[in-house]
Amino acid sequence: MLQYTKFNTNSLEYLPDEFALDWLKVASDEAKHFGMLSDRLKELGSFYGDVVAHDGLWGSASRTTNDLLARLAILHCVHEARGLDVTPNNIEKFKQNDDPISAEVLTTIYEDEITHVTAGVKWFQFVCEHQIQQEKQNNDPVPKDEIMERFYHIVRNYFNGPLKAVSTHIEINSCSPSTMKQERKQE
Ligand SMILES: [Fe+2]
Repeated sequence: MLQYTKFNTNSLEYLPDEFALDWLKVASDEAKHFGMLSDRLKELGSFYGDVVAHDGLWGSASRTTNDLLARLAILHCVHEARGLDVTPNNIEKFKQNDDPISAEVLTTIYEDEITHVTAGVKWFQFVCEHQIQQEKQNNDPVPKDEIMERFYHIVRNYFNGPLKAVSTHIEINSCSPSTMKQERKQE
């Protein structure tokens, strides 16, 4: 959740409590994942940081410090979604190399990460629609292709590096921000 505290909170008043709750759950999961991976590395005689790794996620977080919509798109709908694309293959590799424990760790992380990408897509749609409505100065539902157009524009501007394909996990689904707003009004 700390990743979202830098944004101007006055401009985020339109976001419901669910937004904070979703990202608190994600933060809790990520801490759990780190502990699981760190423990497994120790069991295997190594430690976190022993092997050099890329800092793509950190770089993207830094580049999107002042842009909530870009943060949602790049961190969750690109980085985490790409993780979902590659993890099943990694799980298989561990199984094939007689390491079911590591495979189990990755399976748990994979299942949690599905919920992170789902939250990313949900809130990207919500924030994107809100921003477009502000620009148009109306509350009309925003067509899905307009939201996707904004998504690809952000990816081109903020994502460094090759993108083999935008993950199949990125879909503008039936969880329409307009619908969510209407549901909250009725509560
Ligand atoms: Fe995650």
